[in-house]
Amino acid sequence: MPPASGPSAAVPNDLESYWLPFTPNRAFKADPRLIARAKDMHYYTPDGRAVLDGTAGLWCTNAGHNRDPIVAAIQAQAAALDYAPAFQFAHPKAFELASRVAALAPKDLDHVFFCNSGSEAVDTALKIALAYHNVRSEGSRTRLIGRERGYHGVGFGGISVGGIVANRKFFGSLLAGVDHLPATYNRAEQAFSMGEPDWGAHLADDLERIVALHDASTIAAVIVEPMAGSTGVLPPPKGYLERLRAICDKYGLLLIFDEVITGFGRLGHAFAAERYGVVPDMITFAKGITSGAVPMGGVIVRKPIYDAFMRGPEHAVELFHGYTYSAHPLACAAGLATLDLYREEGLFERARKLEPVWADKAMGLKGLPNVLDIRTIGITAAIDLASRPDAVGRRAYDAMVHAFNDEGLVVRVTGETIALTPPLIVSEDQISEIFDKVAKTIKAVA
Ligand SMILES: Cc1ncc(COP(=O)(O)O)c(C=O)c1O
Repeated sequence: MPPASGPSAAVPNDLESYWLPFTPNRAFKADPRLIARAKDMHYYTPDGRAVLDGTAGLWCTNAGHNRDPIVAAIQAQAAALDYAPAFQFAHPKAFELASRVAALAPKDLDHVFFCNSGSEAVDTALKIALAYHNVRSEGSRTRLIGRERGYHGVGFGGISVGGIVANRKFFGSLLAGVDHLPATYNRAEQAFSMGEPDWGAHLADDLERIVALHDASTIAAVIVEPMAGSTGVLPPPKGYLERLRAICDKYGLLLIFDEVITGFGRLGHAFAAERYGVVPDMITFAKGITSGAVPMGGVIVRKPIYDAFMRGPEHAVELFHGYTYSAHPLACAAGLATLDLYREEGLFERARKLEPVWADKAMGLKGLPNVLDIRTIGITAAIDLASRPDAVGRRAYDAMVHAFNDEGLVVRVTGETIALTPPLIVSEDQISEIFDKVAKTIKAVA
């Protein structure tokens, strides 16, 4: 049953003023896809039509939508403390959430810096990396290494280390001193792999070439998504992350895992670092920390990194970085309630158990018209479609529109890839429903 309609159900009478992000504005405004309410696995349009959420919002509502304990926690917090200054003052829930997050992270990743988004988390991590080398008198280490096809948000740091061409090419020369590892995807070698592909670990060795070119003494950090999400779901080849870790250790480079998508259960664990048994020096997170209910991001750092800054006079600021809304009280309240829900409902373990069911259903789409590849990992799948002649990206775009308007399903598309990544409360029946709807959609755009 849809929840009772409220004022938010009204259809706006002016679509013009709002400039939508990462959206073709003219096409959207000609045929808007409006969502007025949500509960658990479903959205509801202003006229009350239920739409199944195949993407956990934007990979963030891992506990499902409008969960009562999260809503109640936000409401109670808004009534008790709306805001306290984030600099020189703090509120108790910031400490509580930091220690809860640290407890979920592997090994000595035990200090948490809060911000408000994945993009801010990435810029924060890159800045910490540079400053860390600086405070240890290794200030020549300024280069940052990302990866082709990587997505690290939209800040200048994130697009500089990122590797998605459209996100970079309009924005000038970006950060200086950035280099990129090769992408890990090769369709000829990996097509229709379930989970981590067998081929591709050797691509990590390109880091040796980059070190040989620039010298380790100029390189601060390497940042990768353990599973590259936004570019179209590229699971890491078996052994790849281990090799990256080994090379970073050999040359004293910090390894940053951008877990903005993979954090909080998406791959069946609190963090992908745990799934792969590879401990990075920093983990960025956002999205699932509050199940999307309040913006929040952060960086978890290893103890030696935090300790390196804790020098000098005790009254002096150690890191000149932070946001007005770092550890915002509403975000902390939402985060604590979300982590409680993950634990009480065993949602990470649930994702782990459902992974084979999910992967089987996804691979069931093989053989449908225009399907070139299917990849699965955790509760995530990607389906690459063949482009229409002269209209790259059009088939997947049409699929997204068809899925919403005609099948009642939200899917995410990037380029010619359909990505599916529902809330972790998805039932087996709903998994079947998602892939049935996607099959109909693929046929409809053939
Ligand atoms: C790996 C990764 N890093 C960073 C970001 C940016 O997060 P935000 O959109 O919250 O700034 C994203 C968003 O999808 C992401 O997938």
